Amino acid sequence: MTLLKFRKATVADVVPLSELIQRTIRVSNAGDYDQKSIDMLCSIFEPGPLTGRIENEAILLCFAGANLVGTVGLKGDYLRSLFVDPAFQGQGLGKLLTARIEEEARQRAISDLMLHASLTARDFYAALGYEFLEVQSYPEGPFVLMRKQLNVRL
Ligand SMILES: CC(C)(COP(=O)(O)OP(=O)(O)OC[C@H]1O[C@@H](n2cnc3c(N)ncnc32)[C@H](O)[C@@H]1OP(=O)(O)O)[C@@H](O)C(=O)NCCC(=O)NCCS
Repeated sequence: MTLLKFRKATVADVVPLSELIQRTIRVSNAGDYDQKSIDMLCSIFEPGPLTGRIENEAILLCFAGANLVGTVGLKGDYLRSLFVDPAFQGQGLGKLLTARIEEEARQRAISDLMLHASLTARDFYAALGYEFLEVQSYPEGPFVLMRKQLNVRL
């Protein structure tokens, strides 16, 4: 894989970030959610609402050369919005982004990291040590509440 670079997102990143997330949802989540759900999920990540997210949570970006290929966020004690470009999936990038945001959570003394997994990513998170709590229903479709205990150094 090309050399990867990581940095925090700023509002200047909103358009390529929106494109990455919407492309990934349409390609990678389409097998698990119907078209209405996919359209609703994409609307959450339009540049307008996404700008608010960038301003209110820590969002990490991963670049391969000049290309934005992955992202993950942390809001409170929730890991949010993990997406890897379909062309870069299966190469360890999702795992790497998760490890980085877990480290950020540890530095913030978060002992239980929570997330709402897509049906697509449920087994991915389970493989990384996240435990199943419950399936929750949202207008966008079902998501799986999961939790991982982090070893926090106090
Ligand atoms: C889920 C996602 C982030 C995984 O990213 P990725 O870069 O393909 O994952 P990795 O290559 O780091 O995989 C890490 C491990 O998980 C496994 N894995 C990856 N996707 C998996 C899946 N859907 N089910 C089961 N295991 C999976 C890999 O085999 C790998 O195992 P290994 O360490 O033993 O080799 C990516 O598929 C994605 O963006 N999906 C669509 C968006 C989405 O649903 N995001 C989650 C929102 S909550």
